[in-house]
Amino acid sequence: MADVDFHLECIDCGARYDPNQVIYTCSRCSGLLSVEYNFSSLPEDLDQTWKKRTLSVWRYRELLPIGRIENKVSLGEGGTSLNECLRLSEEIGLKNLYVKNEGENPTGSFKDRGMTVGVTKAVELGMTKVACASTGNTSASLAAYAARAGIECIVLIPSGKVAFGKLTQAIIHGAKVIQIRGNFDEALRIVRKICHSHPIYLLNSLNPFRLEGQKTAAFEIRDQLDGRIPNKIVVPVGNAGNISALWKGFVELRELGLTDKAPQMIGIQAEGAAPIADSLKKKLRRVRFVDNPETVATAIRIGSPVNWKKAVRAVKESQGLVEKVSDAEILEAQKLLAQQEGLFVEPASAASIAGLIKLTRMGVIGKDELVVCILTGHGLKDPNIILRRCPRPIEVEASEDAVINVIMPEEKQAVKIAGS
Ligand SMILES: Cc1ncc(COP(=O)(O)O)c(C=O)c1O
Ligand SMILES: [Zn+2]
Repeated sequence: MADVDFHLECIDCGARYDPNQVIYTCSRCSGLLSVEYNFSSLPEDLDQTWKKRTLSVWRYRELLPIGRIENKVSLGEGGTSLNECLRLSEEIGLKNLYVKNEGENPTGSFKDRGMTVGVTKAVELGMTKVACASTGNTSASLAAYAARAGIECIVLIPSGKVAFGKLTQAIIHGAKVIQIRGNFDEALRIVRKICHSHPIYLLNSLNPFRLEGQKTAAFEIRDQLDGRIPNKIVVPVGNAGNISALWKGFVELRELGLTDKAPQMIGIQAEGAAPIADSLKKKLRRVRFVDNPETVATAIRIGSPVNWKKAVRAVKESQGLVEKVSDAEILEAQKLLAQQEGLFVEPASAASIAGLIKLTRMGVIGKDELVVCILTGHGLKDPNIILRRCPRPIEVEASEDAVINVIMPEEKQAVKIAGS
């Protein structure tokens, strides 16, 4: 018997599905699916039960759609730090700014929260092959969790557009890595078709079980802020799964009576890949996809976000918004965060900081508001971008003099004058 009572539900027509069925979208209307729980079956003292466990994805197991906790495929995901940013706050004129450093996850991105649940589900369903399309982090994470579970992993990536670190992760974990001559959106279209017609389990964020793992970042934020709920959550948006997952987490906390507040969800896209930001600004009823997305933040180089409907609902229900930032703003924010706060994130993650700066300047984010930015992935995944932009180290002779000359050239001059 399952520890938790849940089912799958179409977000458009409400059709219900057995969660032990391999299904990704509604077979009646093709709508996205969501995992829904029977809250009345949950223990009353949920909050106390959670507090006794270490901060991690599985602390919140009562709200995770897994048959038995013993089945979990885990690498110690979640429990990432929430850092108050005093120097950055001062720089941009805020008073209560925190960043959730998801780069601390086992493979260096928030994707691990989803994959621990998604791969556990794959094993429960008896699947022996898993697959995804990826801009990099999903493939790194899926490859690691598949290795942990002892199952086969296939990943499709856009040729030449995946950061070096992420590619090496997928390779070392033994995934079958296939580069396609096309972009992420095309890779996803292909892998969806293959998983539909073969016994291979799809683990893109279209898979509702993955988003269940990702929602735990919302639960952790509340716990780390001693029960407070931020006024604003700022998160980079690509395929739009994470913003939807975080919002689901906050909604569940409210439905469970663990808070009466909810944050405004603020999504940030890169200018060259901003279908949701552009469509919302134009007040379109459907998101108009972008054919050739382009940005230095390769993780969010996505033109046709599959979860757009969930994301738009999250933004509207929370009275939030989606903004876009330029590549130059992203790279500037990456440097600022690294040099003011000691946090090195990849460009896609820095998009949330770039968005934060832009929206604070515009007055959309108020000085006194409690703001949490999600830093989605570690900077070491994409070192090439830094080496291309920042000055290389200075090379000198192996002598004390030569080094002093570089670190304090004025002093050397002064010593010379004094001795002459
Ligand atoms: C580092 C990073 N940030 C943000 C995102 C965007 O997340 P989502 O596709 O769920 O919107 C991704 C997705 O690959 C990512 O790897
Ligand atoms: Zn439906």
